Amino acid sequence: MSSDGPMRQTEQFLHLYHPPAINGDFTGKHIISVEQFSHTDLDIIFSAAKSLRERVAQKDPEVVTLCSGRLMASMFFEASTRTDMSFQAAMRRLGGSVVSASNGVQFSSVYKGENLADTVRAAGCYADVLVLRHPQIGSSYEAAYYLDRLNERIVTPTSVISGGDGAGEHPTQALLDLFTIKDLKDGPDNLTITLVGDLLYGRTVHSLAKLIARYESQNTTLCLVSPPSLRIPDTIIDTLDKHNVTYYETDDLYEVLHKTDVIYWTRIQQERFARQADYDAVRDNFIMTPAVLNQAPRDVILMHPLPRKHEMGTPADHDILDQNPRAVYFQQMENGMFVRMALLAKVLGVESI
Ligand code: NCD
Repeated sequence: MSSDGPMRQTEQFLHLYHPPAINGDFTGKHIISVEQFSHTDLDIIFSAAKSLRERVAQKDPEVVTLCSGRLMASMFFEASTRTDMSFQAAMRRLGGSVVSASNGVQFSSVYKGENLADTVRAAGCYADVLVLRHPQIGSSYEAAYYLDRLNERIVTPTSVISGGDGAGEHPTQALLDLFTIKDLKDGPDNLTITLVGDLLYGRTVHSLAKLIARYESQNTTLCLVSPPSLRIPDTIIDTLDKHNVTYYETDDLYEVLHKTDVIYWTRIQQERFARQADYDAVRDNFIMTPAVLNQAPRDVILMHPLPRKHEMGTPADHDILDQNPRAVYFQQMENGMFVRMALLAKVLGVESI
């Protein structure tokens, strides 16, 4: 990532815009940080997601009416499979529609040099909700800042939901991750949750660690396993301290694996490294194989936000996936759609979920 002018300008919005607390009311709010959620807000989303999951399973015909006539803009300035598709699927399952620039934002006026604020405001003029993924930290804050000013002057006010901003946050991934931990392990209370891999650049682990802290869970231990050069940022440690979360940092997976209830494996974020040599130095530090998994308790669950590369993509991977019910990343993925359905419906002010 370059450290050019536009990037610094975008980061300023972390200070210029303060995301509103949700406080039980999601309608019309921008969703850009897990800091907006309280325990009660999370319970609202999780129970809505669970109910939508049941209703979809039962083919309840009313689900497809919940957001009918509403429009979501999908704006991905970085690669995505799951976040983009699950948001689109979520909106369509609720009966809403999706717009995006044909063939993605790279073929929008961004190609002509348009800035983020103008591109976001264009989508803001057309849609009710806008899902934004962008490589710069603070991009969703910048979008929220400009949309607030635009919304006062148009008839279709728009909320932005972050689909990940650079190496910053990925709030909706954390929602679906915590939902999955609750769903499959009745957590996060009384669990040891081990986050492994790139804790410095991985936005999913940033948001998940902070969200676990904000859930004010009882007797949760977070094990933070990374190469020393990829330790979790101090700002996240500050949040853990503030919420009295017990945590343990190490570069030795085997110190903690045997007492772990949830393993959250991550990809080394190659695209965020300034130097190839720095990536090469850590790329093979943590490789998940059946032999590694066998060092963990029998009832552990293995999560991963995906995409996975060699850190879990060995030929032995099929053993993990096909023969081992402990690998839950596809359940995690499907949960993502239901959590995003719940969030979209709530932000769009749907009462009946
Ligand atoms: C992650 C992301 O984009 O941060 N993927 C996702 O949204 N499921 C994780 C990654 O890219 O490694």
